[in-house]
Amino acid sequence: MSYWFYDVLAMLGYTHPVHPVLVHVPAGMSIGALGFSILALLTKQAAFRSTAYHVAVFALAFTLLAIPVGIFDWQRFYGGAWFFEIQIKAVLAAVYLVLIASAVWLGRRCLESRALPVLYLGSVVTVGGLGFFGGQLVYHGFTPEAPVQFNVGRHVFESHCSGCHRRGENIIEPNMPLRNAPQLHDFAEFLAFIRNPRMPDGSPGVMPKFASDRISDLNARELFDYLNFAFAASKRPVSAQ
Ligand code: HEC
Repeated sequence: MSYWFYDVLAMLGYTHPVHPVLVHVPAGMSIGALGFSILALLTKQAAFRSTAYHVAVFALAFTLLAIPVGIFDWQRFYGGAWFFEIQIKAVLAAVYLVLIASAVWLGRRCLESRALPVLYLGSVVTVGGLGFFGGQLVYHGFTPEAPVQFNVGRHVFESHCSGCHRRGENIIEPNMPLRNAPQLHDFAEFLAFIRNPRMPDGSPGVMPKFASDRISDLNARELFDYLNFAFAASKRPVSAQ
């Protein structure tokens, strides 16, 4: 899969996932739609009902953008790995899409419909769940702090590895954690491994290959030093002590 879109962003200095930026729009707009429909119920002013509807249209438009971008981010930053938070986000995103699209469909026909505030409420609850599991994904991928000399390596870890190896674990093959992995003892072995990862029996596993156009030898060295600092406490490089 080509990541030219991310390469362009990286040239502009943006290296993070794009989905979290976009999702604020449907999230905020859903809350707005619910808020205005409650105002309409309380004040009986029809204008608030229209505002709620217009805001929901906006939410739907950005949802149609945020979902594909979320799928691209998932491929790019998590290697398309099908783990729990992703599964639950996929289900919730489908539910959310149905709710917000139904609200827009219904609102076009009958702004007075009693079902509209219920749909708005449902979309807010779903969006809350989506935000929660999005937060779990991002913050569970948390990377251990390290002194500034490890910044480059830490950044490489964060953008290429922490999705699956959060806190040095391995969320796909729990018995093969990065923490104290045998490859951390020797740089040549480590480099060979990330260029062509293998299961212990020599067969290819799920871990993606990292060719030199994604992680240069130089950056791999920085990554190796960071990983040794962060996840192989007994083998910290002298410079970090
Ligand atoms: C999509 C998930 C995923 C990503 C991203 C990922 N890995 Fe892995 N990693 C795995 C899996 C799964 C294994 C088990 C072996 C395999 O599948 O090839 C593994 C195994 C390892 C091992 C061997 C652990 C052991 O106990 O033998 C090391 C070292 C490792 N990964 C380092 C990295 C580094 C460094 C990065 C980032 C450049 C990275 N991985 C990115 C999933 C991932």
